[in-house]
Amino acid sequence: MDELQKKIDSLDRNRIPVHVAMIMDGNGRWAQKKGFARSEGHAEGISTVHRVTKLSSDLGVKYLTLYAFSTENWNRPPEEVATLMYLIGWAIERELPELLRNNVRIHLLGDIDRIPQEARERLFYAREATAHCTGLQLNMCLSYSSRWEITEAARVLARKAAAGEIDPESISEEVFASSLTTAGIPDPDLLIRTGGEERISNYLLWQIAYSELYFTPVLWPDFSDAEYVDAIIDYQNRERRYGKTSEQVRNNE
Ligand code: IPE
Ligand code: IPE
Ligand code: MG
Repeated sequence: MDELQKKIDSLDRNRIPVHVAMIMDGNGRWAQKKGFARSEGHAEGISTVHRVTKLSSDLGVKYLTLYAFSTENWNRPPEEVATLMYLIGWAIERELPELLRNNVRIHLLGDIDRIPQEARERLFYAREATAHCTGLQLNMCLSYSSRWEITEAARVLARKAAAGEIDPESISEEVFASSLTTAGIPDPDLLIRTGGEERISNYLLWQIAYSELYFTPVLWPDFSDAEYVDAIIDYQNRERRYGKTSEQVRNNE
């Protein structure tokens, strides 16, 4: 039996994270280390997206949320932004048959109106074409930032309150969460960031309140299936206390 299969077999099948979020970082450095243009790293990163999607499906993860392009990434050199937008449109079209075969539903999070038309249309097409799928939900964060999302939600609620449609007193954590783009999606259990930086970079700030964080120095194009399983094994060895004591958790109080 190969090493990967051994690792997969060692997983506790009853404690597979329901929702895994990832910050796919390190494409540029991967390319630069090899003497390539940064865009080569982005292109190579697509094969990691393909693999983690397949493995998430196979392991029974229900939601996989990938940070593909942040609001702040619009500030990169225009040529890099254009290449990324091209690759996003190209990849979603190329991957669609395999996504359908694996019963994966595409969901889009972020200010999608800012995505150039060609890529946007391909994303919308893939979302519609996979709308009936009942397996893994793949949330693609594009032109996404958490502060953008939270500000939008606040604006929507304020508008409703000003119009007398809701009572400000009725705004609970649940109501607020249901105004975010992630409405209806459970919070991430595990957040993985590749590429060595130990920061959140404006990602899912509200939703990761109690997520387990996993940082790895491995650059995104090199992030292997075995390393993904290692992250899940690490997650399964943690005790999620949600503010309680360890004893309370062990006694299921
Ligand atoms: C992540 O890789 C992909 C995006 C942010 C779009 P980077 O492009 O940030 O790679 P590094 O961090 O410069 O190596
Ligand atoms: C975070 O990576 C955004 C994505 C992976 C899409 P960045 O490379 O943009 O993050 P910083 O700038 O190093 O914090
Ligand atoms: Mg980066």
